[in-house]
Amino acid sequence: MRSGLSVLLVAKFAASAFSYSFNPLEHLAGIAPYFEPSDPPLDPSPPQGCNVTRAAYLVRHAAIYANDFDFEEYIEPFVQKLANASVNWSRTRDLAFLATWKSPIGEKDEEQLTQVGELEAQKLGVEVLQRYPNFKPPKKVWTSTAERTTKSAESFISGLVRYENETEMVQVYEGKEAGANSLTPYSSCPAYSGSRGSDQSKPFQTRYTAPIIERLKAQAPGFNFTNNDIVGMQELCGYETVIRGSSPFCSLSLFTPNDWLGFEYANDLMYHYNTGYGFDVSGAIGMPWVTATTQQLLSDGVGNAVANPEGELQDLYVSFTHRELPPTVIVALGLFNNSAFSSSGDVNATMPTDTINHNRAWKSSNILPFLTNVAVEKMECDSYGYGQGEYFRVLVNKSPQSLPGCNYGPGESCPRNAFVEFISRREAMFGGFGQKCGVDYGNSTDTLGIYSSAQ
Ligand SMILES: *[C@@H]1O[C@H](CO)[C@@H](O)[C@H](O)[C@H]1NC(C)=O
Ligand SMILES: *[C@@H]1O[C@H](CO)[C@@H](O)[C@H](O)[C@H]1NC(C)=O
Ligand SMILES: *[C@@H]1O[C@H](CO)[C@@H](O)[C@H](O)[C@H]1NC(C)=O
Ligand SMILES: *[C@@H]1O[C@H](CO)[C@@H](O)[C@H](O)[C@H]1NC(C)=O
Ligand SMILES: *[C@@H]1O[C@H](CO)[C@@H](O)[C@H](O)[C@H]1NC(C)=O
Ligand SMILES: *[C@@H]1O[C@H](CO)[C@@H](O)[C@H](O)[C@H]1NC(C)=O
Ligand SMILES: *[C@@H]1O[C@H](CO)[C@@H](O)[C@H](O)[C@H]1NC(C)=O
Ligand SMILES: *[C@@H]1O[C@H](CO)[C@@H](O)[C@H](O)[C@H]1NC(C)=O
Repeated sequence: MRSGLSVLLVAKFAASAFSYSFNPLEHLAGIAPYFEPSDPPLDPSPPQGCNVTRAAYLVRHAAIYANDFDFEEYIEPFVQKLANASVNWSRTRDLAFLATWKSPIGEKDEEQLTQVGELEAQKLGVEVLQRYPNFKPPKKVWTSTAERTTKSAESFISGLVRYENETEMVQVYEGKEAGANSLTPYSSCPAYSGSRGSDQSKPFQTRYTAPIIERLKAQAPGFNFTNNDIVGMQELCGYETVIRGSSPFCSLSLFTPNDWLGFEYANDLMYHYNTGYGFDVSGAIGMPWVTATTQQLLSDGVGNAVANPEGELQDLYVSFTHRELPPTVIVALGLFNNSAFSSSGDVNATMPTDTINHNRAWKSSNILPFLTNVAVEKMECDSYGYGQGEYFRVLVNKSPQSLPGCNYGPGESCPRNAFVEFISRREAMFGGFGQKCGVDYGNSTDTLGIYSSAQ
């Protein structure tokens, strides 16, 4: 027995001391299947002495077959080139599967939720239910109008509530002239453009793919791999996984861990300049959701008139959107800031375009995977060295975040009065949506009114 046990211990020690493991699915940026990276690894349970009494969630839609841009720019050209190529793939070491591989994505599938996506959205609904067992089912759940967001909301609701007929799904128009009053305010922000960040990302993409191209060309000289082909194959790892359950493109002998870190960093550069700290308007795009949400959480249902017209506050507010909004909310809240604790204000210097900053806080895989969610919780706490009262905290994919300068409550939460001050400081930095976005159409608004209006 004893020697059996020590063999076991030795095996366990060997495994922990010498093994290296790497999961490419956790480094796929906007194509990462939902995961909870524990970034930072603070305990997600309510701190001792605290009960969560109200919460709000902003959720990106769940996994889709492929977004238009990825499909048209990277995947479709690669798949077509594959169909034309006269390469005997069986003779290659790492790409032999291409001899029989068929693309999982058809033209009509673009932008559609996958079955895995539906399942994960429903599972998130069940998890939120279990996290807040005393909450009343919400009267309303909000979603932008695209099919992938409404279907995610429907699946989530089916996991969250017993009687789906008692929760209304409110659709919020994705208007280009809606000002701040939508769940897609970047679309109505003239200063924003979807292609922001590609100039900074492209040079790094060329750099990290160069040795991969040489390696694959050596195996299949007839194919003429380009950097877009490499990116397309790496994207297929994510998309094929959320469609078929696994993908040969995820193999670590085809793309090494370092190759995946290159893919991730190229994306992080793009999102830094697209909807992150490298775009001066990001915070202004995310702030209206923060302000509207905070009002719902702080409200006592009278006074500042933020209850809906029936005068009712919900225990839980959930809203579905696209990948662009959560990172701007994260900037508005000052989270995942590469410059935090540094005296240099130059956040762009923290994202060099010629080398990976491995120690960055800004990792898009952790910030905006499919179904990514930003939660704000209001807690009632009463003991263990903290004053009795209300405390607030923010969680990103279930991981509690420390709000900069406001983290001295239980579990690094923020006391109510300090939270109110924190939010008004952020409003001073990021208020004025219309002006910061350079709104050039009439009838705009700087506030998100969906939670308090009859919409
Ligand atoms: C594939 O071949 C067809 C027919 O020769 C040609 O029209 C098409 O441009 C080719 N596509 C690619 C991606 O090379
Ligand atoms: C491809 O290569 C394999 C292994 O060398 C060989 O068995 C097969 O006949 C080749 N296929 C074609 C179409 O040449
Ligand atoms: C919803 O459905 C349940 C079960 O079918 C029913 O008991 C309940 O009255 C319905 N509620 C509403 C608001 O229609
Ligand atoms: C290989 O691809 C590059 C980039 O698309 C192109 O410029 C070049 O002409 C291609 N070479 C061959 C031999 O097809
Ligand atoms: C970061 O770079 C962007 C794009 O060049 C620029 O607009 C922005 O002002 C820079 N941010 C800082 C803090 O210098
Ligand atoms: C990021 O951190 C730096 C250093 O603390 C700070 O000056 C800057 O305002 C922060 N950025 C945002 C958007 O909060
Ligand atoms: C939290 O909930 C428990 C169980 O309902 C209750 O006993 C306790 O007093 C509550 N604490 C606070 C601070 O509300
Ligand atoms: C301006 O917005 C209000 C409120 O959303 C709407 O009722 C009105 O029709 C809009 N006017 C124009 C000219 O679009």
